[in-house]
Amino acid sequence: MTTTNLEKTRFDFPAINQKINGRPVIYFDNACMSLRPKQVIQAMNEYYEQYPACAGRSMHKFASKVNEKMSEARDIMANFIGAKKSEEIIFTRNTTEGLNLVANSLNFKHGDVVVTSDREHNSNLIPWQIISKTKKIVHKVVRSKKDMTFDLEIFEKNMNKNVKLVSMVHTSNLDGYTLPVEKIIRIAHDYGSLVMLDCAQSVPHKKIDVKKLNVDFVAFSGHKMVGPSGIGILYGKYHLLEEMNPFLVGGDTVSNTTYDSHTLLKPPEKFEAGLQNYAGNIGLGAAAKYLDNIGRENIEKHEIEINRFITQNITDIPSLSILGPEEVEQRGGIFSFNIKDIHFHDVAMMLDNIANIMIRSGQHCVHSWFNANKIEGSARASLYFYNTKEEAKIFVEKLKEISKLR
Ligand code: ALA
Repeated sequence: MTTTNLEKTRFDFPAINQKINGRPVIYFDNACMSLRPKQVIQAMNEYYEQYPACAGRSMHKFASKVNEKMSEARDIMANFIGAKKSEEIIFTRNTTEGLNLVANSLNFKHGDVVVTSDREHNSNLIPWQIISKTKKIVHKVVRSKKDMTFDLEIFEKNMNKNVKLVSMVHTSNLDGYTLPVEKIIRIAHDYGSLVMLDCAQSVPHKKIDVKKLNVDFVAFSGHKMVGPSGIGILYGKYHLLEEMNPFLVGGDTVSNTTYDSHTLLKPPEKFEAGLQNYAGNIGLGAAAKYLDNIGRENIEKHEIEINRFITQNITDIPSLSILGPEEVEQRGGIFSFNIKDIHFHDVAMMLDNIANIMIRSGQHCVHSWFNANKIEGSARASLYFYNTKEEAKIFVEKLKEISKLR
């Protein structure tokens, strides 16, 4: 798709086709939550209006239709990330649940080591802190280089045969930096470790092929990829999922029970306990189809182009500093920044008040990185394919106005 065609996709998104206080909406908070196109909303409404039943239980027509649609959504998601088979796709509530599932279902024992980067979202940090206490594992953090890129040398120094899992963010929500995961996976496997990637910020923006990457687990969410909220995916290599015990158990995870025993189903069913978010699953399939139609290579290119425009046009605001690597290509669609002497929350509120420009400010659920680097927080604009250069131009103009207020 060309940039012009990409911008036409804006018409699919009701949220940016409204005016607030007579002004257009400029939505730059996509790393937190993307908007949803009418195709996704329609797919979810169809479920509620036409076949609002349960999968895997009843025998009637509504139930058969849900079974069929659920299995179609699972196939779409397997295809979306290049999984070998659909049974490697587990529906979760979000990335957080996927990461917690692995933390609680892998057979960790005393002395096992888990290695993460220094810029993990709390969801890829707290589970390891907890099982460090309950299962006596060791959690090691690889510090980034001064330029905020990943330090492969330090990483390799942390590796040894006790490392059971390397669990890293793929693209950082802090600054948009993408870790060299091909190399990380190769090194980790050489030491006999498994690798899990938090792909919440990468899968929506760049093409991922789990087979080519040879990654063991991948977690991501629907709400950052034009899909519904409350739905996500955990991918796992099938033989690993087979060996793991489920984290949650109950309805639809077993083939049989007696008063004192149960027989678990195979993956993915044994991990999908209780009634599922059917509209969410189906809506997520529609979202993946929508993104495939646009092409994630085009999405990535478009976001970098807009980020480049912003980066080049803020150079005459000396009080503005960007978080993350200098080169825009290394920051993807994320523009994380601070304006000296103006609090990041004030910057975000002013942008919203004066121009309906919606960004996020704070520590972006990566408190640990901000604490370690003694930075209080940042303002963060995060882009997606429906954002335009015209919007970026207004954003830059408003930043210039705000910077003069100090
Ligand atoms: N929702 C989090 C963010 O905004 C991860 O970056």
